Amino acid sequence: MTSKSWMKTQAPDPTRLPAEVNPEVPSIARVYDYFLGGKDNFPADRAAAAAVETVFPQGRQLGRESRLLLRRATRELVRSGVRQFLDIGSGLPTAGNVHEIAHEIDPQVRVVYVDNDPVVLAHGRALLADDGATTTVVQADLRHPDGIFDHPEVRALLDFDQPVAVFMASVLHHLDDADDPWGIVAQIRDRLSSGSHVLVTHFYDSGDPRCREIEQALVQGGLGSGWFRTTEQIERFFEGMELLEPGVVAANEWRPDEETPRDSDTHRMLAGGLARKP
Ligand SMILES: C[S@@+](CC[C@H](N)C(=O)[O-])C[C@H]1O[C@@H](n2cnc3c(N)ncnc32)[C@H](O)[C@@H]1O
Repeated sequence: MTSKSWMKTQAPDPTRLPAEVNPEVPSIARVYDYFLGGKDNFPADRAAAAAVETVFPQGRQLGRESRLLLRRATRELVRSGVRQFLDIGSGLPTAGNVHEIAHEIDPQVRVVYVDNDPVVLAHGRALLADDGATTTVVQADLRHPDGIFDHPEVRALLDFDQPVAVFMASVLHHLDDADDPWGIVAQIRDRLSSGSHVLVTHFYDSGDPRCREIEQALVQGGLGSGWFRTTEQIERFFEGMELLEPGVVAANEWRPDEETPRDSDTHRMLAGGLARKP
C-alpha cells in the first residue's frame, strides 16, 4: 500500500458508521483528524475543534509536530533493528503512519495499531486490507493493558518474547491522574521483554500560563481530557527503563532532522522521550 492510499478524499457517510459511533458527540480521534487536515470528522467534532482553537490556535501545528516526532522515532528504531511496533492511541489513519515509514526501510516490520475509538477500527480495517500479513488494527483501551497484550490479533502478529517498540504518542495526556497513567505504563513495561522500547509524547507544562488555559479549553470543552504535565511527571513514565538521549525534551528538540521546525510557536507545548527496557 502506498502512503497515498491512506489519504482521504471524501467526508465519512454517517449512515455507514459502526452502531456505537455517535456523530453528535465529538471524539478525540476525529477532532485530531480535523486538526491534521483529515476528512473523517463531523460537525460536532469541528465545533469542538473550533472551541479549542479560540484559545489554542496552534493545535494544528502541534498535531503536525507530534506526527513528525513519531516518524523520526520510527525510522531510528527500524534502523537500530526493531522489527515490531505496538502503536497505542494510534488515531485515525493519516499519511505517513508507522507501518508506512517502517516499510520504506524493511517491508517485514510488523505493526499493530490500537485505539479505543470504533471509527479508527472501521477505517483502519478497510485501509489495511492489503497489509494484513504485517499490519493490523484492534480496538482496545490503554487503561486495560492486559486487554491489549492478550488480544488474539495482537498476539498473532507480535511476539512479546522479542523486543517491541510501544508508542504512546499524544495519548497519555488524555488519561486523568485518577486513571493512574504511570501505573498503566508500568504494567505495559512489565509485559515487555528486555531490549524493548517505549516512546511517549505528551502535552508539556513548561510553566507558560497558556498551558493551563488550553488545558481548561480541552478538558472543560468538548473533549473532556487533555492534561499538561511537567518534565518530572513525564519522566516518571519511564521508571524502570533507561531513558535514551536526549531525555524528555521539547518535541522539536528530540533528535531533529531537516524536516523538524526550528522556530515554532508550539515549541514548548509538547514533550517527548524514548526509553529502553534493560
Ligand atoms: C491525539 S490522538 C494521537 C494520535 C497519534 N498517536 C499521534 O500522535 O498522532 C489520541 C488518540 O488516542 C486515542 N485514545 C484516547 N484515549 C484512549 C484510550 N484510553 N485507549 C486507547 N486509545 C485512546 C484517541 O481515540 C485518539 O485516536
